[in-house]
Amino acid sequence: MKPVRSILITGGAGFIGSHVVRRMVRQYPQYHILNLDKLTYAGNLENLRDVEGSPNYHFVKGDICDSALLDNLFAEEKIDGVIHLAAESHVDRSLESPLEFVQTNIIGTVTLLQAAKRAWAGKYEGKRFYHISTDEVYGSLDHGGYFTEQTPIDPQSPYSASKAGSDHFVKAFHNSYKLPVVLSRCSNNYGPNHFPEKLIPLLINNIMQNKPLPVYGKGENVRDWLFVEDHASAIDVIFHKGITGNVYNIGGNNEWKNIDLVMLLCQIMDQKLGKVAGSSASLITYVTDRPGHDLRYAIDATRLQTELGWKPSVDFQTGLTKTVEWYLANPQWLEHVTSGSYREYYQEMYANR
Ligand code: NAD
Ligand code: DAU
Repeated sequence: MKPVRSILITGGAGFIGSHVVRRMVRQYPQYHILNLDKLTYAGNLENLRDVEGSPNYHFVKGDICDSALLDNLFAEEKIDGVIHLAAESHVDRSLESPLEFVQTNIIGTVTLLQAAKRAWAGKYEGKRFYHISTDEVYGSLDHGGYFTEQTPIDPQSPYSASKAGSDHFVKAFHNSYKLPVVLSRCSNNYGPNHFPEKLIPLLINNIMQNKPLPVYGKGENVRDWLFVEDHASAIDVIFHKGITGNVYNIGGNNEWKNIDLVMLLCQIMDQKLGKVAGSSASLITYVTDRPGHDLRYAIDATRLQTELGWKPSVDFQTGLTKTVEWYLANPQWLEHVTSGSYREYYQEMYANR
């Protein structure tokens, strides 16, 4: 049977990408899902073991900066939709190596836009280029207010600057060449398969190993947390129903000060590990702050909720408990991703804090 659609998902072996691939493979057996991933330190095919044998799924190892590879894929696979997640995604790494972020997030995105433009050659009926962005492009909020889709772009870190650059190119390809694009900007995700350089999985991993829990500054920065499967469901809705040219904010309306989140996570971990209450919290260590640390992110997702009917389905306590249970049930996953280069990364990033 000829597939109804042929969709290229980039970065599908990463944290959010793997949940998006799983959802699309399972919900749409009539689609052909092609996952293109370079398998950097953050990409892991173990994330997709349960879908890798599906007849409508296919993996290609490759770089979004490789123009010839992209041209072949668009031609051979007759790609009519792109969901673009591949990126360098960690703020702390961007402070150390900004050019890697320019390379993948800006050059890679423009290379992909050009490949889509060449392949579709102005025949845009039924085509869609969906760029996954982040709320960090809006910059940092004080204690009041929310980011809306009209908030001016004002990135503060090399990571967010590179994502903002890619957003501008996506909009420019729409404006200049009418490429049928749609964009979304989501708040902080959490859930299974999250690489343990990011706050929540790093804390879970450290508690499992009885290691200090590094809290930057005074722990007063605020983030709005969304369960990763809810982000995947929003991406599904926007891919299918979003209006071409639009930006959609995605958020959980679930703001937490870092230190309050750390305390809640410590409580859940104590319960799950059968430890005395307060044991995990005794590992909390305040460390030197992240340079230029954005104070607060908070998303207004009204457009997505009212125009496309999406809402999150998992509350924070449930999502966090599910997340902890997943890590405790999958110690081999953590072991594999934290062997080798992770140890060097951890040593360099936290030694002088
Ligand atoms: P991740 O770091 O877990 O995964 C990124 C994936 O991209 C990896 O599989 C990696 O191998 C792949 N990749 C990197 N460079 C590549 C290249 N040049 N070519 C092909 N593949 C490459 O990232 P994530 O947290 O899953 O984020 C996915 C996307 O969502 C990113 O665009 C990120 O900016 C955005 N986002 C993330 C969050 C979050 O909280 N994690 C929130 C909002 C938006
Ligand atoms: O808002 C969306 C963004 O969320 C995504 O675009 C990024 O890809 C994703 O990494 C995330 O960025 P943050 O910088 O907010 O996430 P991170 O998990 O690195 O940090 C969350 C908060 O916790 C932040 O205020 C910094 C703090 N932190 C982080 C680490 C790794 C600590 O206090 N200690 C730590 O060891």
